Amino acid sequence: MSAPGGSAPLLEVRNLTVRFRTRDGVVQAVTDLSFTLRRGETLGVVGESGSGKSVTSLAIMGLLNRAHADVTGQILFEGVDLLTLKPSELRRIRGRDVSMIFQDPFACLHPMYRVGDQIAEAVKAHASVSRAKARERAVEMLDAVGIPNAAIRARDYPHQYSGGMRQRAMIAMALVHNPAVLIADEPTTALDVTVQAQILELIDRVKREFNVGVILITHDLGVIAETATNVMVMYGGRAHRAAPSCVTIRSRQISRLRSLSRWQASAWPPAIAASAGTTVSQRPNRCGQRGWNTQPVGGCNSDGGEPSIGTSAASRRSTLGIDSSRPQV
Ligand SMILES: Nc1ncnc2c1ncn2[C@@H]1O[C@H](COP(=O)(O)OP(=O)(O)O)[C@@H](O)[C@H]1O
Ligand SMILES: [Mg+2]
Repeated sequence: MSAPGGSAPLLEVRNLTVRFRTRDGVVQAVTDLSFTLRRGETLGVVGESGSGKSVTSLAIMGLLNRAHADVTGQILFEGVDLLTLKPSELRRIRGRDVSMIFQDPFACLHPMYRVGDQIAEAVKAHASVSRAKARERAVEMLDAVGIPNAAIRARDYPHQYSGGMRQRAMIAMALVHNPAVLIADEPTTALDVTVQAQILELIDRVKREFNVGVILITHDLGVIAETATNVMVMYGGRAHRAAPSCVTIRSRQISRLRSLSRWQASAWPPAIAASAGTTVSQRPNRCGQRGWNTQPVGGCNSDGGEPSIGTSAASRRSTLGIDSSRPQV
């Protein structure tokens, strides 16, 4: 499973299984899930509601309550198994090396505190800097994610922001420490279509300019077709398929995907739409070909469209000041 550039994987999930112990019995949310993420890649994760997408993200973030959730397998971040770390060690990685954007910005932003102060707190959580320096960084990041008049708007409360601005603020918060991995769990579901497009474009630019590995969970296959390097289809807690996004989906998958009735035909990949008797325009993919691809689970390599440059965690956070890796977005 080597990348075209030969770079080491940033994140390797191996045989991840998550079981919740509930009063009504055991719920097996994720079963034997394996995938790999490299720098500069976007792994698109699609699947119907309840298929285990969010539980997988929360497991990677170490946010599942281990008193009720049995998590087995391995989650290797830069070779270190996150599942073996103590809570204090995990806290050092979470939010600094591995960050997450949630569907609902209010899940992250406290309504009673100014947006800039909350981002500054996130800065201080992993860096011993002065309050003034942390605020400066917050304003820089708000500016970087496209908040106009960032110095002034940093003093606003979350309710004074539009939905799209709140999502931008959450992305700014997720990026303050130049994370290596960014997990976006349906980041645009609560937004209107125009703003959705802007936020997805922002995530894509962040990926390229920060050289981050992105896990993008979405219901929208159109988004996957546009931005994902690899695709993983989840169903019933399992990866039904993981593949580079440049091969043709086989009929076996088509029936499974078609059963996801919430997806609109217009958002289906061309191969699926064709089988469903629907015509959609095909866009060339990153391989310069048309159509979608499949490979056995675990054969999920980058197609070479994006370089994967290994960078150590230490060098990433060598400075809190904005450096050349700062995205101009
Ligand atoms: N804390 C929990 N306790 C019990 N079951 C849970 C818990 N969290 C999630 N689940 C179950 O795990 C499965 C996967 O959920 P989830 O990952 O949230 O799905 P989705 O793919 O929609 O994000 C669902 O059946 C859900 O009901
Ligand atoms: Mg979910």
